[in-house]
Amino acid sequence: MTAELDRVESFLAEREDERLADYFDFLRIPSISTLSEHAGDIRAAARFLAERLGAWGLENVEVSPTPGHPVVYADWLHAEGAPTVIVYGHYDVQPVDPLDLWERPPFEPRMEGGRIYGRGAADDKGQVHLHLWVARAWLATAGRLPVNLRFVFEGEEESGSENFDLWLEANRGRLGADLVVVSDTGFAQGNHPAITIGLRGLVYGQIDVEGPALDLHSGTWGGNVQNPAIALARIIAALKNEDGTIAVPGFLDEVKELTERDRDEFARVPFDAAEVETQLGVPALFGDPAFRPLERRGARPTLEINGIWGGFTGEGQKTIIPAHAHAKFSCRLVAEMDPRRTFQRVKDAILAVPVPGVRVTVRHLGDGMWTSTEVDHPASIAAARCLEDVFGAPPYYLREGGSIPAAAAFHRLLGLPVVLLGFTNPDDQAHAPNEQMVYANYEGGLRTIARYWEALAALGPGLGAGTRS
Ligand code: BES
Ligand code: ZN
Repeated sequence: MTAELDRVESFLAEREDERLADYFDFLRIPSISTLSEHAGDIRAAARFLAERLGAWGLENVEVSPTPGHPVVYADWLHAEGAPTVIVYGHYDVQPVDPLDLWERPPFEPRMEGGRIYGRGAADDKGQVHLHLWVARAWLATAGRLPVNLRFVFEGEEESGSENFDLWLEANRGRLGADLVVVSDTGFAQGNHPAITIGLRGLVYGQIDVEGPALDLHSGTWGGNVQNPAIALARIIAALKNEDGTIAVPGFLDEVKELTERDRDEFARVPFDAAEVETQLGVPALFGDPAFRPLERRGARPTLEINGIWGGFTGEGQKTIIPAHAHAKFSCRLVAEMDPRRTFQRVKDAILAVPVPGVRVTVRHLGDGMWTSTEVDHPASIAAARCLEDVFGAPPYYLREGGSIPAAAAFHRLLGLPVVLLGFTNPDDQAHAPNEQMVYANYEGGLRTIARYWEALAALGPGLGAGTRS
């Protein structure tokens, strides 16, 4: 370890109390991007970041507006001749319902049994926070960073990144860089260090089935009109087969098939189905029998219903035929699928289901592209080495099922390589009640990033990408 890195680590260790208190302050802000009543909290979280970035030595700090929630930008560009890295993360979080399943309120963080509990502890405030503190520690102890950094923190990742592509296009002139590092992913089962090399894309939609103008008396009209809830059930049932495969014509046409090598890679990643079944509380895993669970997660598309509503759901009995029924659906996409084309195929399949006597409409609500990164890019190899130095084991390479539309956008719109270097424990309960981050992962994350900047600097300008064999 260099003397400089040693001082960076000491700084982080000596300020543990202040650092944790600061992390908790960040977690206290209920920055839920999808709920408009939290718009003020989103602004507060953006300010939280901007204030610290400014106070700790970053420059050109800006809460940069978008038609939705702002992007927080800051840079430090004085590492002459060294690579320039964009660090992306998000400061927004998911909604917290169902509230009654939280053991403590979601925005009152606490440390218990070596874990930090609270909405955003893992996804993604904890990881954004550790990046801030690494930059602070480097600037405070060495008066410099080994690489040039540009921080880009998004405020609407959890609600679909609707405005991020636009922001990227509008700001591309000032986003010159050699690499994007995203810390919004995590470790393999058993909490083994990992680098994520693939993420799925997403397309989201809504089905509306409209029947009579008002709810009807089911005694008077039952048997004489189409029931919108039953029509909706027919439509949904037509989209999937009994074995879990997708019944939409053409849905799989662009899907890149797995090679033997891909399947071998998947087989190397630890996955214990029985343990996962217990963790999830399901009697058995379920999915396309032609693939193993991790293949289904990382390399196969999905079509899921996210919610269904309509008619009477209160206590007791109410004898009606509902006037309308609705469902939200989403598809996870893999290479080489196109979100719009997939949406059109699903829409066509929905509208092809014969349900006379009702009107069916399908709305597009959002989409994002899948990401596939280069495993053997020098910046990936350096990341693997840093993870091994800190966590004592070489990383697994994961193709994950979640989506980070911004990661794909950096690659697609700016042509930059992306390294998905995240630190969350696989049982973090992200998006669910009692979200948590293993504190040792957070601390290891600090130390990994602190040395990663040194390792990238050692690769030289352009990260040695031009000299790869
Ligand atoms: N951090 C996740 C993405 C993720 C999940 C990566 C699981 C690796 C494994 C991210 O914050 C997220 O949840 N994204 C949303 C995006 C959507 C709203 C477009 C997702 O995947 O549902
Ligand atoms: Zn996230």
